[in-house]
This record gives sequence, C-alpha cells and structure tokens, in this order.
Amino acid sequence: MVIHMVHPAERIKGSKSNLLEGKRIILGITGSIGAVECVRLARELIRHGADVIAVMTESAKEILSPESMFFATGKPPITKLGGGVEHVTFAGEEEAEKSLLLIAPATANTIGKIATGIDDTPVTTFATVALGSGMPILIAPAMHAAMYRNPAVVKNIEYLKELGVEFIQPREEEGKEKFPDVETVFLHVLRAFRGGQGSGVAALVIGGASEEPIDEMRVVSNRSTGKTASEIAKALFVEGFEVALLWGRTTTPPPKVGEITGFRRVEELIKLLEKMKGREFHFIFMPAALSDFIPESREGKIPSGGELLLRMRSAPKVLNLLRDLFPSAHIVAFKAVGGDDRRVMERKAMRYIKEGRADFVAANMLKDVKEESTRITLYWRDGALGSFEGDKFRVATALVKAVMEKAGG
Ligand SMILES: Cc1cc2nc3c(=O)[nH]c(=O)nc-3n(C[C@H](O)[C@H](O)[C@H](O)COP(=O)(O)O)c2cc1C
Repeated sequence: MVIHMVHPAERIKGSKSNLLEGKRIILGITGSIGAVECVRLARELIRHGADVIAVMTESAKEILSPESMFFATGKPPITKLGGGVEHVTFAGEEEAEKSLLLIAPATANTIGKIATGIDDTPVTTFATVALGSGMPILIAPAMHAAMYRNPAVVKNIEYLKELGVEFIQPREEEGKEKFPDVETVFLHVLRAFRGGQGSGVAALVIGGASEEPIDEMRVVSNRSTGKTASEIAKALFVEGFEVALLWGRTTTPPPKVGEITGFRRVEELIKLLEKMKGREFHFIFMPAALSDFIPESREGKIPSGGELLLRMRSAPKVLNLLRDLFPSAHIVAFKAVGGDDRRVMERKAMRYIKEGRADFVAANMLKDVKEESTRITLYWRDGALGSFEGDKFRVATALVKAVMEKAGG
C-alpha cells in the first residue's frame, strides 16, 4: 500500500490565482525583525501558485524558527549549505528563468556583503550565484532609519541597482524602514517575473471619486470605490511602467506602486495636472469618478432642519484638458452606463473617440460591476477591441495588455 502524504502547504497552492504557477521563489531571510512576516509572505506566494523554498541566515534563525518556515512552505528551509550544493542546484543557470531570489527582509549587513561579493551565509552565497547565473534578484531592505541613511548602505544599494538588482521601497513607520506589506511584495514579484515590457515608461492613473463641498462639513460625492483604478495601477506596475497616481477618495488606500498625490475637488485635480504639464506619459488611464456638478459652497455648517436647495454648476471636463496638457499621451477614458442596452454603451464610447477626447474607452454597464468582479469592453477608433470579464486585477491586466498591443508600450 502506498500512502501519499500531502503537506498542508500543498493544499493552499494556487487557491487565490495561478499567476505564479510554475515559478519558484527562493526566499532569502536575514536577521531583521521583519522576518516574522515571512510565514504570511510565503503562504501568500504559494496561494498564487508559486513554489517557495526558504533560505535562512544564522541571525534569521534567532528571530524566526526554521520549523515555522518548514510549516509555511512545506519544504525544509536551507539553513546550511552542504554536499547537495543547494546554491548551485537552485540558483544556477538552468534555474534562472523560472526562479527568483527574493531577499526579504534584507539586513544592512547582507546587502553590504552582496554588494562587495562576500558570501559567508547561505543567503549571500545564493546571491553570489544568482548574480552570476542571471537569475533575477529582488531585495526588500528592512532596518532602522539611521541604518538606511548610512552612506555605505545607500552606496551598496545604488551599486546593486546598477547590477540590475531590483529593490522594494521599505514602509516608513515609527522611525524605521519596515518590511513592506505582503501585497506590495507580491506585486514586485509579479513584475520581476514579467520582465517588464513597459519598462521604465511613465503612465498616469487618475482614480477615485471627487468630493465637492456643500459647506465645511458636507460633500457631494459618488459611490465609486476606486477599486478599478487601483487594479489598473497595479497591472501597469506589474508590466514594468513607472506609475504616477492622482488619487481621489477611495474605500481602500491606494496601492503602493508609484508616486501618489491625493485630490478631493475637481478643481484641485486640474491644478495638479497643470503642474504636471510637460511630463511625458505614454498612457493616461482615467477611471476616476469625477463630479459633473459643483455645488455653491457655503462657509460654516448649514443648520439642519427645514429644506435645503442646492444650486450646482457644471464641472469642467478633465478629459478635454488632458488632451491639451499631454498631447502625446494615449488616453484611456472610462465610461459607466446605466440600464441594460449595450448599444447605448457602444454609442457613448465611440462618441468620446470620434470627438478626439480619448484614444481608448473602457466601457461597462453599471449592472456588471460587482464588489470583486467586473466586465469591461474596450473600444478604440475601429470599434470594440474585446470584452474582459472576471476579477478586477485580471480584467485590468487584460485591458493594459490590449492597450499596449495597439499603442505600443
Ligand atoms: C532582534 C533583532 C532585530 C534586528 N533587526 C534588524 C533589522 O531590521 N535590520 C538590520 O539590518 N539588522 C537588524 N538586526 C541586526 C542583524 O541581525 C545583524 O546585523 C546580523 O549580523 C545580520 O546578519 P545576517 O545579515 O547574516 O542575517 C537585528 C538584530 C536583532 C537581535
């Protein structure tokens, strides 16, 4: 009788997506307190289909038990190199394509050693081999702010960047440069595997709802959650773009995938765009839900009780302004249509394009927009390019790819 033992880590594999299926992530863990996040990180990567093998330094073992990483990944972590020449087996040329060395968290010590070619721990030896074999390396530094400012650390990071190593910006908090949140690491991992077709090209995403004040307390806004904008920004980042976000009110914080500038009123957004004039954006995606009307605002707080009549004027059309400010950008407008007549949606989308206000229109029927999923039809000058349906990140990725295919990226 053969008994097949399945480790619990196998049971969660691919439970969220298959975006990392067939990919191996060598998770190098060093002696930073951020190591305590590695169980959650490893399991999240596995849920997206990855194979994860932990490699740990002696100092990391003081902070996080290797048994915890065995549990998290379903594989015994590498804590010592031996006759199996694990560093060559897992980080050599043959593995370079389907694998990634993710050093997270990375101490100042380990970063310094990799930059100077020292390899006296399992993690630094993996890095030495990976740098020679062409395996991509992604590093998430985590340390006290003073350590991160140390000119030697700054120089080491700059030098490794020159060698093609990618870095994840730490999360600044309480005077420390902390381990980034798991989603941010996941997005960087996806970006590292995609090889970034849009590499280094700038893209702007304008997302969220605007808020127009009625008085100093109350606002007129709308029900947009900003989720589509968030997923578009992530998809652009994963494709390698340098993303800038202009961010209105959303139900969740903006994804940490680029420079973020907040706005509330349409007029505030216009001022920000005017300041950006001259910047070269290859794409501008505008899934923002902006007010069409602006109320006459009053000082103080309007007393409650009785009746309130609001006088509202038409808001300026931001889409028209984008064309003037960024003449070479490919503009992707978003149009949500009520009712259930798809021909109305098509007519409205094509009108935007014919009037020259947008190069592409991503249109949907309000009834197709759910909390986690959506259905979007993408139009350009020759008509519909395709419809994309499913969870919002997948739809956003398909949209970004379709636009890149037509406009280049
Ligand atoms: C509890 C604790 C937390 C530490 N956190 C960090 C940290 O966040 N970043 C860092 O660079 N060093 C940190 N250190 C210091 C490193 O562990 C030390 O530099 C060690 O030599 C790193 O070895 P490694 O890079 O081989 O893991 C910490 C040390 C201790 C005891």
